[in-house]
Amino acid sequence: MSSDQLLNRAFELDSADPLAHWRDRFVIDDPDLSYLDGNSLGMLPRSTVHRIHEVMNDEWGLGLIRSWQKWLNLPLVVGNELAPLLGADDGEVVVHDSTSINLHQLLHAAVRLRPGRTAIAVDAYEFPTDRYAVEAVAREHGLDVISPPAGQRLDEIPLDECAVIVRSLIDYRTAEIADLVGFTLRAHEAGALVIWDLSHAVGAIELDLHAADVDMAIGCTYKYLNGGPGAPAFSYVRSNLISDIDQPIRGWFGQDDQFAMDSAWSPKPGIGRLMIGTPSILALEAARCGIELSSEAGMPAIAAKGRALTDFAHECCDELRLDSVSPRDAYIRGSHIAIRHSDAKEITQRLERDYSVIADYRDPDLIRLGCSPLTTRYGDVARATIHLASMVRQ
Ligand SMILES: Cc1ncc(COP(=O)(O)O)c(C=O)c1O
Repeated sequence: MSSDQLLNRAFELDSADPLAHWRDRFVIDDPDLSYLDGNSLGMLPRSTVHRIHEVMNDEWGLGLIRSWQKWLNLPLVVGNELAPLLGADDGEVVVHDSTSINLHQLLHAAVRLRPGRTAIAVDAYEFPTDRYAVEAVAREHGLDVISPPAGQRLDEIPLDECAVIVRSLIDYRTAEIADLVGFTLRAHEAGALVIWDLSHAVGAIELDLHAADVDMAIGCTYKYLNGGPGAPAFSYVRSNLISDIDQPIRGWFGQDDQFAMDSAWSPKPGIGRLMIGTPSILALEAARCGIELSSEAGMPAIAAKGRALTDFAHECCDELRLDSVSPRDAYIRGSHIAIRHSDAKEITQRLERDYSVIADYRDPDLIRLGCSPLTTRYGDVARATIHLASMVRQ
């Protein structure tokens, strides 16, 4: 297929796309920009602009301190709004702090739930924050860090010594989806807990944490959920584990009676025990708007478009002879694809400078094309790959 034929095909797909109108719900200043980095920072929903203005004006400006009556439990309220997107129940999710902080917190808690175990496992190619958190928590508890040797996966190593394993559901480089059900089961059979990092999965694919018997999970809201830069992350703990969680980062928001100022530490009975200090209300409201949009569009439709966009991206790669390292099977692939090239960094920079295509680069040789189902057009994917191919051939 020629470039023109690919563009025509993209035009047909965009015309038939049942989610195409969702772009109108976002702030789009330059319709000619192909934004393929929503897997790092999702676009700004129009409702967020309105909501933040409203919260600043009415709740902060006019309500002042009185507004804390409705703000105090906002991390739990937003957690309950997010829960259906995770396949979780009310009272199992709280939105607070960053993914990195939440991971440290749950790692400590998980280790305390498995006394006598000697290790924590994490893949050597895992996202940096996850590896750093594992190393730091292991050091504090006097545990070893286990990683599979090169060429092997966590699925292949023994887990009998492990208190907990940290694993991304979707690989941030290749977009490969791990076996949520199978790996969780294997860890449980070995007596270990798993903390799943859902940063690249939430808002991109359908999740059913209950069906998979997931213990704990964390993840970002600023990627596919369009929650905004630095939007708070979420923590999930399965309901029957919550009361056993010994919260390691204690703060007054996790205290049962927060305003009994002289009380000794006594954690909230539910998932609220993971709250630490004063939440960032503006950021939480922004995250909430993004969560509302994904809930309204529905995860089945969003996930289906993610598969279709990335299938089309592979069709373009094949026609243009680009080397994607992402899985071909859409059901084991998240919502981005990664193209390998030795000049990946320079190509990514030139895509933006010369062709108005924003993609991203991951060290050492990957160009990631993020396909956010609510905002990415098939035309964006066609344009990005055509320009990319033209540079590769120069
Ligand atoms: C897979 C994964 N885990 C963790 C993080 C870190 O999140 P934060 O910077 O919000 O702590 C990121 C950030 O991009 C990520 O992609």
